[in-house]
Amino acid sequence: MRRTIHDLRRLAATRKLASLTCYDASFAGVLDDAGVDILLVGDSLGMVIQGHASTLPVTVGDVAYHTRAVARGARTAWIVADMPFGSYQASPEQALGNAVELMQAGADMVKLEGGEEMAATVAFLVARGVPVCGHVGLTPQHVQTLGGYRIQGKDAAGAERVLAGARAIEEAGADMLVVEAVPHSLAERIVARRRSLVIGIGASAACDGQVLVLHDMLGVTSGKRPRFVKNFLAEGGSVDGAVRRYVDAVRSGAFPGPEQVYADEA
Ligand code: KIV
Repeated sequence: MRRTIHDLRRLAATRKLASLTCYDASFAGVLDDAGVDILLVGDSLGMVIQGHASTLPVTVGDVAYHTRAVARGARTAWIVADMPFGSYQASPEQALGNAVELMQAGADMVKLEGGEEMAATVAFLVARGVPVCGHVGLTPQHVQTLGGYRIQGKDAAGAERVLAGARAIEEAGADMLVVEAVPHSLAERIVARRRSLVIGIGASAACDGQVLVLHDMLGVTSGKRPRFVKNFLAEGGSVDGAVRRYVDAVRSGAFPGPEQVYADEA
């Protein structure tokens, strides 16, 4: 049986939650069997599956296609589907129409990027029965306005912006929040006053859980890897072994270690 948001909250009170991105039925089965709690059908599929240079070309149809596949392969894991660039920013009504498509494809929750500017949309979705995961810090759909994939919230003003965004999204009713590529002390400030389950990627071991892009943790992505990536296949010996090592490392709090998070002066 699929986990519910209450199951995830109960689990998070006893141990860290392990999450990975997932794009197909076969991997959904492997990840689920290895104990991954949350499968994220990320718009990172635009880069690791489709070969684009960013997530921007991904469509709702693409995410729905991969969500259907993941939903067929998963047994217990909670499935989060990413709302792609341009599918939710125009209006709450636009967001609802596209979120419904992803929920009908098999998602348990949708994820969208942004801070205070997205709060009204989050409230609109939650009020209409769509569970929402926010995403603050480094938001890859903003790569062009951010000027690249850079750590966020390094100076006082930037940190306040990320904190205010996290608070606004949680107050609007999001049950989960991804915090990406911020100094660990900022992530810890978000965790200290959280109202949702905070999932980190390049954030802090203090988060309720961790997420990585599957291809990154299996070491099959080329080019410069971000600091927060660890290749678990190098030690795990097999895909199943790698995923189990990741799950153990997240649950025990061993991942991320100091080498995978950002110091204040990073
Ligand atoms: O699209 C994605 O894979 C993501 C994770 C990196 C959090 O948003």
